[in-house]
Amino acid sequence: MEYALITGATGGIGYALAECFAKDGKALVLVSSNMEHLKKAEEKLLANYNVPIEVYEKNLAGERAAEELFLQLKERKIRITYLVNNAGFGLLGKTEEIAMDKEEAMLILNMMTPVKLVKLFLPEMKRAGCGYILNVASVGAFQPGPYNSSYYATKAFLYHYSRGVRYEAKKAGVSISTLCPGTTGTDFFKKAGTKTPKGAMTPEQVAVYAYRKMKKKKDVIIPGFWNRMARFVPSGIKLRVIAVIKERQAKCK
Ligand SMILES: NC(=O)c1ccc[n+]([C@@H]2O[C@H](COP(=O)([O-])OP(=O)(O)OC[C@H]3O[C@@H](n4cnc5c(N)ncnc54)[C@H](OP(=O)(O)O)[C@@H]3O)[C@@H](O)[C@H]2O)c1
Repeated sequence: MEYALITGATGGIGYALAECFAKDGKALVLVSSNMEHLKKAEEKLLANYNVPIEVYEKNLAGERAAEELFLQLKERKIRITYLVNNAGFGLLGKTEEIAMDKEEAMLILNMMTPVKLVKLFLPEMKRAGCGYILNVASVGAFQPGPYNSSYYATKAFLYHYSRGVRYEAKKAGVSISTLCPGTTGTDFFKKAGTKTPKGAMTPEQVAVYAYRKMKKKKDVIIPGFWNRMARFVPSGIKLRVIAVIKERQAKCK
């Protein structure tokens, strides 16, 4: 049976992706920082899908979490065919007002952990001559985002890293896709201290589209027509628009 490892699978886009994999008969390895959330997600999935599910509580903003997870799965002889680097969060506000420890945790979770998980799981996929990696970046990867600056920069990093490694892995039969969602109605904005903007896509819409494109080995996956169109707007213009929106959101925190 093929296993899919999904980080941040207890809610939002990660949970919706877990449903797509389960519907397709894949066994699941769900990872998040909270066992209670994991148990709830597992229960909900088992009520609807007949697939094996393993849950792992890991703070992926911690420095050795990726290595620990890899070793635990190795001990259990679980081979991962699908790796989804989804867990992430954003920090809103003037850069000097964002606490240093939160900043550090975000940089590890959004950048270092996905890099480590790719490095740990890719060799086995290459040996097997097959595998899929889906890295969840954002449309924020395409331009700077004032008052959300480091978050946007983490997504730009992940976008370029993911596309670079895709080129390396392709020859060995491993497909790496980069998912760039636009505004999506999850807990993401609430956790950043603001409200979800109007017109957000649902996590289910994002996940179903992403799953289909990932299976087709698409390079960059942008759910939503207007999100795809926005890519062609000059980044200097987008920067100014985003600055106004994010400054307003940061003030309302
Ligand atoms: N929502 C949007 O508008 C949007 C747009 C573009 C890109 N994205 C990206 O999409 C991804 C998923 O976000 P979402 O919108 O679905 O947000 P979400 O609803 O807040 O879900 C985030 C997930 O990450 C997990 N997580 C958070 N911190 C963690 C940690 N330290 N260790 C392990 N797991 C952790 C959470 O689980 P626990 O709380 O159980 O740990 C949760 O399952 C993120 O990378 C985000 O940057 C979101």
